[in-house]
Amino acid sequence: MTAPRLGHSNLGLGVGLRTVHFEHILNHWPEVDWFEIISENFMDSQGRPRYILDQIAERYPIVMHGVSMSIGSTDPLNMDYLHGLKNLAKDVKAHWVSDHICWTGVAAKNTHDLLPIPYTEETLKHVSDRVNTVQDVLERPLVLENPSTYVEFQGSNMSEQEFITRLAQDTGCGLLLDVNNVYVSSFNHDKEPIDFIKEIPHEHIVQFHLAGHTNYTTHLIDTHDGHVIDPVWELYRLAHELTGGVSTLLEWDANIPPFPELHQEVLKAKQFMGEHLPKFEIHIDQKTEASGKESLSTPLHFVPVDVE
Ligand SMILES: [Fe+2]
Repeated sequence: MTAPRLGHSNLGLGVGLRTVHFEHILNHWPEVDWFEIISENFMDSQGRPRYILDQIAERYPIVMHGVSMSIGSTDPLNMDYLHGLKNLAKDVKAHWVSDHICWTGVAAKNTHDLLPIPYTEETLKHVSDRVNTVQDVLERPLVLENPSTYVEFQGSNMSEQEFITRLAQDTGCGLLLDVNNVYVSSFNHDKEPIDFIKEIPHEHIVQFHLAGHTNYTTHLIDTHDGHVIDPVWELYRLAHELTGGVSTLLEWDANIPPFPELHQEVLKAKQFMGEHLPKFEIHIDQKTEASGKESLSTPLHFVPVDVE
């Protein structure tokens, strides 16, 4: 690694670009610091969505976030997809390109879900080799995110944070720390989220994700359908302190509020950047507590192609 955070500056507080907000953005050009796009929603589109994205990209920093790389799969990497990513990144002057430490399918079958991988020496070598290939094709470091997970492999012989640390060190890739995912996975696997936040290599962290989730009492699902809960904000406070602060992005993909409310949610992050405010206690909710939500889960970052 040549420079902390791959040499990227802190872009500030951004939000995920969603089609429901296109009109508001074009009419108001809100003072949001930056946008993250779902790469797949724009890669194969030359119509209105790309026309709008091009206008937005002229005014705001853009970061690309993908859901289809399937870096952990044993299927060959999709070179057409990688070249599509590279071209889009060039067109929108993407500051960086990210995806998830997961696999999404095998034997040419796509599950459209972000599935966990076993944390072993063998998979570390496999994923590292593939990250190196991707970085060669993209001609830039890849940034990889810790996913929310709901099951673990019995065959794993290292922690998720050790796997991620060694992957970053072996390949020089950047990391996207999804603080809500840390909370969700820790709850689901009876682990301590603070350990994860403390133990990953902070100099590799390029970006944070924040989001809401749904509590189904026995497990949490990463639904991106509501406000960030207080314990996740407290984890964010710790992550901010340990990294010195990196670009922060709010994801909200279901029950999406009007843009001003969305923007207001990410601006709350300012309260957790070192001011001497009363602290919430970081804790894992008891599994007997219900959130009261009864909506069906969408346990993934995957956003169906919703381009107009
Ligand atoms: Fe995320």
